[in-house]
Amino acid sequence: MDISELVGSSEAQLSGIKSPEDLENFRIKYLGTKGLLKQASDQIKQIPVDQRRAYGQALNGAKESISAAYQQKKLEMASVPAVLTGIDVTEPGRIHCDPYRPGTLHVIQQTIDELTDLFGQMGFSVADGPELEDEFHNFEALNVPTDHPARHPLDNFYLEQLTGGAPRMLRSQTSSVQIRVLEKSKPPVRIIAPGRVYRPDTVDATHSFMFHQLEGLYVDRGVTMIDLKTCIDQFARAFFGASVKTRFRPSFFPFTEPSAEFDVLFTGDNGQNRWIELGGCGMVDPNVLTAVGIDPEMYSGFAFGLGVERIVMRRHGIADIRDLFENDIRFLTQF
Ligand code: DAH
Repeated sequence: MDISELVGSSEAQLSGIKSPEDLENFRIKYLGTKGLLKQASDQIKQIPVDQRRAYGQALNGAKESISAAYQQKKLEMASVPAVLTGIDVTEPGRIHCDPYRPGTLHVIQQTIDELTDLFGQMGFSVADGPELEDEFHNFEALNVPTDHPARHPLDNFYLEQLTGGAPRMLRSQTSSVQIRVLEKSKPPVRIIAPGRVYRPDTVDATHSFMFHQLEGLYVDRGVTMIDLKTCIDQFARAFFGASVKTRFRPSFFPFTEPSAEFDVLFTGDNGQNRWIELGGCGMVDPNVLTAVGIDPEMYSGFAFGLGVERIVMRRHGIADIRDLFENDIRFLTQF
């Protein structure tokens, strides 16, 4: 076999190769264990002794150049898409294809962290409770009677009871944590409880079957409505800016008396001011304190519950709550 012919034919063949399969066939044909180079090296025995040295040198040179050409081709093919039609190779990579991009906290979590910090400065620590609750903590101890419409099966996620015992449900409000905390600790109690709550609402731009609330509770001797309003006002100013306007509207919640809803004045897209409700609040109903063994003659308290998604959507101009939960990384990495 003529070695220089072998090199020549390999070069011709290699330059015409377009697919990884053809490249692999090339490798097998020339560089494989039974390939042409191996065959050429087996032939050395038939070469006259005085020509063997030159033959061997030529063969080694051929091996080197064919291997190098093969490696070079392999590299080139790895960096060029197999099919170029319709692909813009100058387009920047998509971020979700980049395995090393550092993550960010979800904007809901960022907001909860910020609120935790803020209420922390007012002396509130963070409390936690289960998302899988019983009716005592979600309703009864919160002074919500059995026939109250909020307890209707169609308005709650009750769990199928397989083993008997008290019915269980996904908590519909973080107010359940008020009870969890008061059962375990004596006043003074000053906590916030951020977390998920669940209601079987039909999902649309402003409703979701799961959302987040941030509950607040302060029980001590001599707590009054002034403390409540001051606390909410301080929060609103720290969070939305010192010039923010708040208002309290009389309302009703079974676990507070008196109760109020609090609004913040925002400027809408059309430049018009609009009151936006941020949550409910009130003075802890004496029945709630009694339910957890705290003497309402000695102690009083206030409570409030904020809707976290509302705050996030307001602040960032998000029009559709579903954007927060669809986990599209292009949306989430904006925050
Ligand atoms: N739990 C109420 C709700 O989900 C919100 C709320 C209202 C919480 C008044 C409170 C409160 O702590 O005092 O609608």
